[in-house]
Amino acid sequence: MPGGERRLRLAPSLLSADFGALGEAVRAAESGGADAFHLDVMDGHFVPNLSFGPALVAAVRARTRLPLDIHLMITNPLKFLDAFHRAGGDTLVFHVESDDDPAEVVRAVHALGLRVGAALRPDTPFAAVDGLASDVDQLLVMSVHPGFSGQRFLPEALPKVRAARAKLDEVGHGADVSIDGGVNVETAADAARAGATFFVCGNAVFDGHPVAENLRRLRTAIHEGASDAVR
Ligand code: DX5
Ligand code: ZN
Repeated sequence: MPGGERRLRLAPSLLSADFGALGEAVRAAESGGADAFHLDVMDGHFVPNLSFGPALVAAVRARTRLPLDIHLMITNPLKFLDAFHRAGGDTLVFHVESDDDPAEVVRAVHALGLRVGAALRPDTPFAAVDGLASDVDQLLVMSVHPGFSGQRFLPEALPKVRAARAKLDEVGHGADVSIDGGVNVETAADAARAGATFFVCGNAVFDGHPVAENLRRLRTAIHEGASDAVR
């Protein structure tokens, strides 16, 4: 399927929003046309930062009907799948570098009736998820070292996006290729050209400028990049 015909989705990352006014951030992004929300869970162990857990996910769930993409940057994802399910997550994205067996995490998330994503840190080769491609609903390629929003996009992620897209096409699977970290109007277009279909944007959405306008510019860039990919 050519890139331009795929469904392209934009998911604001709430890590960059004002936590004191999260409800407003959710409303602004939803009315500005966001397709989903991305929530970054950090345990201070898998990554050198702490963020939030299921209680915050539940608070967001109560304020939107959009899908919630839960990015688990934690050492033991298996231990918390049930809690994020109960909190209202729709897609649980775990890291293949975590301590748990990836195939087991995939099975456990599907057993809960949720979608599952497998994420790769920038220093992890695509080969680490090659064998999982036909079982997951999303492959998330990180374009920054996980832990903080507002970092610069690492272009080394682009060949991995291409490899992920090629593998998913080969197995005939319409799963998303998600790009996460430093995604702005320029890098979103590059990622779309490489075959990404799900775009996580933190600082490019919540930078103090009107959220709807930021989303509009990102969406235009993504569609332009994707239409280049078809040619
Ligand atoms: C980084 C997180 C990202 C990040 C995105 O560890 O996984 O989702 O918050 O924020 P920006 O778009 O500002 O890099
Ligand atoms: Zn993330």
